[in-house]
Amino acid sequence: MTDYMSSETPAVVERDKRHHVHPYQVFDTFAEDGALPIASGVGAYITDTDGKRYVDAVGGLWCTNIGLGREDMVEAIADQVRRLAYSNPFVDMTHIPAANLATKLAELAPGDLNHVFFCTGGSTANDQAYRIAQFYQAVRGKPEKRHVISRIDAYHGQTYASVSIGGKPGDRIEEFEFLDNVHHLSSPNQYRYGRDLSEKEFGGQLFAEFKDKVAELGGPEKVSAFFAEPIMGAGGVVPPPDNYLKSIWEYCRENDILYVSDEVVTGFGRLGEWFASEKLFGIQPDIITSAKGLTSGYIPLGATIFSDRIFDVISDPGQGRYLPMGLTYAGHPVACAAALKNIEIIDNEGILEHVRDVGPYLIEQLETLKDLPMVGDVRGSHLMVCIEFVRDTATGEPYPYQIDIGKRVSNECDELGLIVRPVENLNIMSPPLIITRDDVDFIVETLRTAIPLAHAEAEEMMAGA
Ligand SMILES: Cc1ncc(COP(=O)(O)O)c(C=O)c1O
Repeated sequence: MTDYMSSETPAVVERDKRHHVHPYQVFDTFAEDGALPIASGVGAYITDTDGKRYVDAVGGLWCTNIGLGREDMVEAIADQVRRLAYSNPFVDMTHIPAANLATKLAELAPGDLNHVFFCTGGSTANDQAYRIAQFYQAVRGKPEKRHVISRIDAYHGQTYASVSIGGKPGDRIEEFEFLDNVHHLSSPNQYRYGRDLSEKEFGGQLFAEFKDKVAELGGPEKVSAFFAEPIMGAGGVVPPPDNYLKSIWEYCRENDILYVSDEVVTGFGRLGEWFASEKLFGIQPDIITSAKGLTSGYIPLGATIFSDRIFDVISDPGQGRYLPMGLTYAGHPVACAAALKNIEIIDNEGILEHVRDVGPYLIEQLETLKDLPMVGDVRGSHLMVCIEFVRDTATGEPYPYQIDIGKRVSNECDELGLIVRPVENLNIMSPPLIITRDDVDFIVETLRTAIPLAHAEAEEMMAGA
């Protein structure tokens, strides 16, 4: 396949440039450089149309959890396509994969999260969570509970509600409008914003800010929900200060505010658990949103999993109420069949246990890069990590954004057969959960070569500036 494609590479790149608009496309550089065309993938490795192989340390986009190209997934998907490629999920129709998967998710999700509302990905899962929260508050006679609290640097997706809840400054540009009932607290990134404080002080400060915000909005009776990723992902892989999320959750519980945990990235094994909220952070959310690793990226699927408490209120008998929400491809039978097989594989192959072993090894090995220039911070947990590059490691002074330091390092890595994800001054890694210690060694050795090369380029540019 690669030989055939190899001769086609220039034409593929050209067609792509002309007609394919990419998410987050940077127009000027894209017009020059185009995109890297990938032709095939197996396990943690992908191969471009010229036949060059890479370790995909990004795991697609935080999603190829069990690895690419598995025949058992191919079989499960093909089998479902043959049986029933599509079926309407609306109102009073269902199918076997959706019923089975909803049951499985209710079993895996913590506490009383027993109700699964499917959709097509992470953004729609968060949109649904937002609307279920608003619906719940309104039907219980509290329509004034409409404010939502989120955080700067949070990423919750791209639909109107989910991008409004998101807090990445680069997404909140003035050309767009956003919901006006969403309020953003400070980012919990201590390396960037709390270096002078102890972790306890920093977490305490963030919690105090949360309580102040609730008060400023008119008290808990005006606040519908708090949204948070257990570990912020696209906003810079930010593990929360100890106890900070738990304090917010306890406050929400005591004050009748819903806690929505966005586990689109952290779910399905990335942190060595099916879901991280309760197991790793002591939080029992009212709603968990999930996507990505739910099917390991084989087929798009999202799920909003919510509590008995919410379900009992919105479905209160005798009210003549209905749920005016739903997508054609929600709980698509082929996606649900893929998710069921994916869960079976994670279970049968001990993948959660493997992540608990290889994850700490990845972080430990990345930490060894701290002796290199510009490696300011290495952070994350298990298979969700990043390196933050800075001009001055003593002060944390960043490179100007024009230097595009994360991209420089990732370009060097590309050359050497490693895909990492550049986001501003970061390289983010979220490899497939099946990576081995040898793969980790390759990732770290490659970065050890790439970082000094990118550093030299950056300093040359700075000198010429
Ligand atoms: C935490 C989080 N939530 C939601 C989303 C949106 O998911 P999707 O791109 O599937 O809509 C993402 C995507 O990266 C994410 O990282």
